[in-house]
Amino acid sequence: MMTASSTFPRGPKGHLFLGNAAGLSRETLGYLERCARECGDLVPLRFFWKRILFVNHPDLIEQVLAKNSRKVIKDIAQRADRPLIGDGLFLSEGDSWLRQRRMMQPMFHRERIAAYGATMVACAERLIASWRDGETRDIYRDMSRLTMAVVAETLFDADIWGDADEVAGALACALECLSARVRSPQVLLPASLPAPTNLRLRRARRRIDGIVYRIIAERRADAADRGDLLSTLLHARYEDGTAMVDRQVRDEVVTFLVGGYETAADLLAWAWYLLSRHPEVEAKLLAEIEAALGGRPPTAADLPRLTYTGMVVSEVLRLYPPAPALGREALVDFDLAGYRVAKGTDILVSQWVMHRDPRYFADPAAFNPDRWADGLADRLPRYAYFPFGGGPRLCIGHAFATMEATLVLAAVAQRFRLELLPGHPVVAETLPTLRPKYGLRMVVRRR
Ligand code: HEM
Repeated sequence: MMTASSTFPRGPKGHLFLGNAAGLSRETLGYLERCARECGDLVPLRFFWKRILFVNHPDLIEQVLAKNSRKVIKDIAQRADRPLIGDGLFLSEGDSWLRQRRMMQPMFHRERIAAYGATMVACAERLIASWRDGETRDIYRDMSRLTMAVVAETLFDADIWGDADEVAGALACALECLSARVRSPQVLLPASLPAPTNLRLRRARRRIDGIVYRIIAERRADAADRGDLLSTLLHARYEDGTAMVDRQVRDEVVTFLVGGYETAADLLAWAWYLLSRHPEVEAKLLAEIEAALGGRPPTAADLPRLTYTGMVVSEVLRLYPPAPALGREALVDFDLAGYRVAKGTDILVSQWVMHRDPRYFADPAAFNPDRWADGLADRLPRYAYFPFGGGPRLCIGHAFATMEATLVLAAVAQRFRLELLPGHPVVAETLPTLRPKYGLRMVVRRR
């Protein structure tokens, strides 16, 4: 029997100084897949001088994300986003996280988000109204504009369609800088150092802040409660009666913009890509949409009849999880499967690797939405499939995102067929989220 002080199994061989940094930052997911296959469920790794434990079994992932959630905080790779998103819900910890989460949770209850359905469909219709039959478009860019408009209009009642390119450009630049930092030893050093990437990041942040502080000032000037997330933030009072300062409101707005638009755009882009490669799935999807809607735009009330569309969304999230990995840092020493995880160790879990594990998914590389029929989700161990994480830090927007994807797929697919432009390279880029590296050039054909 193992004791809590057992030494870890051996990890893959690493470089004396770099450790496993080359594999982790260049190949990332392919490297993690190989580590899991060759070294098993607990794989010790090193990123320069930082110790990482890669955990690759649903029960152990549950230990990290749920059962021991009080003994861990977000890891260094996630904390690297702080120069952009600040101390919003994604990165706050402890009591201040709990206070913010409780305040915002009601905005994401099922009945509440059902009311956002009309805006989601209206944004999709506005997008496709600009499409011309037979033209080639970057569908990843289109999906990004769409999901950003949805977040801004539903949560902040702000029409940023006019500013969307400026916001998207600045966010893309900031996220690129963060991704460059996370791949290099820079991530282990403060972002305040005047390195070129840090300076570019600061400039992008200033552009984003210009727009976000303007939206906050406009809303403070108009005292009415519009019932959206921004009103909730502006009208909230802490126990001592004080209101949230602009800096905290800014951090939450940027957190929700970044968290809400990029991942959702990734999901939709991969969905269009996979549908274009699998005409039999597309035909089945279309048959369901036609039977359920008969040509009219979808609403949230149609969701119970769009079950196959929902299964397509689940299967896209399995094969191309927009958050392909996430991490925690141990705050204290604790036991995991009989091993002692030392305080300060980063613990890495990967949706990409678990979702392709043949122990849980038959023919794991196949795009087969039908696998979700007959209650597969209920039969799987909870953490064999976790595109939205789990435990107390479960994505607050998970129902929002799946509803948005289902409605947008239905609204767009009944009007247009999207075909991948022959020769366009489709390469999955891992950081910060799983997105098509060269965009997604597709020809849109009116049905
Ligand atoms: C397909 C789309 C999405 C995916 C795959 C996704 C994934 C995730 C994951 C994995 C986490 C947990 C991270 C961790 O445990 O460290 C998370 C947290 C979060 N997500 Fe999402 N997300 C998506 C959409 C959204 C949307 C639409 C919103 C907002 C409207 C959102 C806002 C957030 C926020 C604020 C958190 C932090 C929650 C907390 O710590 O309390 N996400 N997301």
